[in-house]
Amino acid sequence: MSELESLQLTHETLFANDSYISQANEQDNTLYTTANTNRLAFWDTRARDLHWERTWTATLEWKRPFAKWFVGGKLNAAANCLDVHLETERENKAAIIWEGEDGRQETLTYRQLHDQVSRLAWLLRHEWDVQKGDRVTLYMPLIPQLAIAVLACARIGAIHSVIFGGFSSQAIRDRVQDSRSEVIITADGGYRREQVVPLQAVVSEAIVGLDFVRHVVSYAHLSAASPQKDGYYAKGLSPFGSHEDSSNENTAKNNYQTHDWVTTMAGNTQHQAPELMDSEDPLFILYTSGTTGKPKGIVHSTGGYMTHAKYSTKLVFDLKDTDIYWCTADIGWITGHTYVVYGPLANGATVFMYEGAPDYPEKDRFWDLIAKYKVSIFYTAPTAIRAFMKWGEAQPAKHDLSSLRLLGSVGEPINPEAWHWYHRVIGGGNCPIVDTWWQTETGGIMVSTIPSILPMKPGLAGRPLPGISTGILNEDGDNVPVGAGYLSITEPWPSMARGIWGDLERFRDVYWSRFETYFAGDGATIDADGDIMILGRVDDVLNVAGHRIGTMEVESALVDHPDVAEAAVVGMPDEISGQAILAFVILKEGLRADPNKETTLRNHVGKIIGAIAKPKRIIITPDLPKTRSGKIMRRLLKDLAHGRPAGDTTTLANPQIVEELAKAF
Ligand code: WT7
Repeated sequence: MSELESLQLTHETLFANDSYISQANEQDNTLYTTANTNRLAFWDTRARDLHWERTWTATLEWKRPFAKWFVGGKLNAAANCLDVHLETERENKAAIIWEGEDGRQETLTYRQLHDQVSRLAWLLRHEWDVQKGDRVTLYMPLIPQLAIAVLACARIGAIHSVIFGGFSSQAIRDRVQDSRSEVIITADGGYRREQVVPLQAVVSEAIVGLDFVRHVVSYAHLSAASPQKDGYYAKGLSPFGSHEDSSNENTAKNNYQTHDWVTTMAGNTQHQAPELMDSEDPLFILYTSGTTGKPKGIVHSTGGYMTHAKYSTKLVFDLKDTDIYWCTADIGWITGHTYVVYGPLANGATVFMYEGAPDYPEKDRFWDLIAKYKVSIFYTAPTAIRAFMKWGEAQPAKHDLSSLRLLGSVGEPINPEAWHWYHRVIGGGNCPIVDTWWQTETGGIMVSTIPSILPMKPGLAGRPLPGISTGILNEDGDNVPVGAGYLSITEPWPSMARGIWGDLERFRDVYWSRFETYFAGDGATIDADGDIMILGRVDDVLNVAGHRIGTMEVESALVDHPDVAEAAVVGMPDEISGQAILAFVILKEGLRADPNKETTLRNHVGKIIGAIAKPKRIIITPDLPKTRSGKIMRRLLKDLAHGRPAGDTTTLANPQIVEELAKAF
């Protein structure tokens, strides 16, 4: 950590405008003091903001590393997002306003969303025999039906496993097998820059031979379209190459039936009552990358997760009933679970959703949408902000963004330059920015500034939320009061992961073996005010455009190719995506590095994992720097990727290769 220790620890400080502060939900630090006085009583009060069918007998039962929160409490997550708003003034309020890339629109009030969810839930339960605790995989575009499917699962107590639409059939297969999902909900396809992503065909390919899969439900999103522009749907390209929809053929080989969502729903008027769930019953599994080749199925609970989702959304985003709230994340990521679906809907908010790309048809699409729907809260990722900066101020200047009152950032550190641009150009200098640090494993926001109470520091995430305790620890696990170290969450919190699906030992190993308290995998600094700056991952996990990708996963995808003998993957700095993937590849004996090899290998990674994991650059090399015992020295490869002089090479068996490789940079 020595290089971290020299980092500056004084930072620029900015305050939110008086007009923002005076209207904010939180006017003073009562929440911080209440939480500090009695943490468990504080969480008890937060949990009481939900609707429980039966109250709990103990707030927390803690047997490190396993927590139980609100023990014995009974509730339903979907009912807390829907039923609680019926017969209130929110019943006919818009819950979801959606726009497709092609300009199609859909609005669902809380009443209508409830209707759709409870009817789909009935079908899942009675037509497709999904029982409480069964897993259901969802692989869909960012359309209201994905939110409906998520909530329908929650309504019957089925554990949903949403897979982002950018993952490949192989990645789906692994996740469907790991979670043993007997039912899969998908769509005929989704859109991205006019291209069709043939989701259902990808699913058909993924589940060939998986005998336990019983039903595939598909929403006809493409066929529901009426093209608004010539040629909009003409291309039919797929990032995965061509996929013939072979679902009928596969149905013959497999044991599953395919159902059309639209006609099946139209034929069902039955509603499903919410299942009574235990606070600790799993609500969902979400796969995320780690330091091995195998993704981890992070398991979240019902009561604790929902408590933090509802509380943190309201607090951090200063949510009001009048807001139009837009979090740009896909529901396939944790940000979409907590801050598109569960958090905002539990608060009765109006959620805006957009399916397509930010630069389609022009680079002002987001600003056009903000002006059109009068979005007031906008939450996105630094990688997007840096792309907007590159596209120029003229794009947002074409639109009236005065409806905005609060901006958010998530997924990676936001550099001060991007922070200021976001503040000035998008926020017109009037909107505070919340930089929110958290992870798939934490379930919700852990660190952020609350701008109505505390000053903002561009580039710093801020402090732990009331009720959350963090520490910056040195190598020995001692607390660093001011300086650099490893970020740890030092007390159990309600929305903490309950484990890794099917692998509790790995959960212990990854998060609970390094320190006594939760190890987040991020390096961070803390200043004298207690404000935290996130420095990035300290493990072999990359953060590419806010997406977590394990270097080992990419390495195993590369060596899966018949031509590859060995591969080493590291991150390299990238102006837009923060980090980019750099791969070093040794080909098998006798094979030559022909000019197409790089493309072939890049596509192979796309096929095994998905387009998001394709290396930006692949360097084909006869050798890699190795110790005498044969271990690849990734540290030296990282030095090269960062344009730094390579560190100590004296322990290498082949020091000359470092000089050779340096020529490629
Ligand atoms: C990793 C978690 C949970 C949100 C989406 C990513 C990085 C997240 C920030 C931030 C600096 C951040 C960390 C973390 N990260 N938010 N505000 N500032 N870094 O979720 O895929 O589970 O990744 O994203 O490195 O460990 P995820």
